[in-house]
Amino acid sequence: MQSTAWYTSLVLILLLSAIFIFVLRRSRDSGDAAEVARRAYAPRSKLFALALAAGVIITVVTLLPWPHQLQAGAGIDRVVEATARQWSWSLSEDRAQVGERIEFKVSSEDVNHGFALYDPDMQLVTQIQAMPGYINRLQHTFEKPGEYRILCLEYCGLAHHAMTASFTVSPN
Ligand code: CUA
Repeated sequence: MQSTAWYTSLVLILLLSAIFIFVLRRSRDSGDAAEVARRAYAPRSKLFALALAAGVIITVVTLLPWPHQLQAGAGIDRVVEATARQWSWSLSEDRAQVGERIEFKVSSEDVNHGFALYDPDMQLVTQIQAMPGYINRLQHTFEKPGEYRILCLEYCGLAHHAMTASFTVSPN
């Protein structure tokens, strides 16, 4: 994501520089300043329409997974309640199937903990805070089967490191 943003910026910077250089060279060719200005500003309305269209398209595409709809729990196949306490996890269910949309409702009975989901290769997949008095909702669709691990990602006392649980994802 960051490298995409970087390359996009780079391309836009180069494009803008090219336009400046082009305009500068053109302005040297002609002695008539008014004519140069007229030609330079001519594509302005087309560029504006282009930028407007691009803005609308980017907005629509990036908002397709509409956040409010996700919030309302649309398209959830399975809800798993995950409650943290010093120093263990209690899960209402500990298995799911590949392709199911899971909503983890994460809370804590005592202090703040971190709910972190790791795949079978121990790569962090997704995470959310577990807080007393709050239910934080984390949605995830498992794409590969296997034995996932839930670890605590926030230091919560002496046996913080022992706060683990497993979550089994079976092929569908
Ligand atoms: Cu719970 Cu660290």
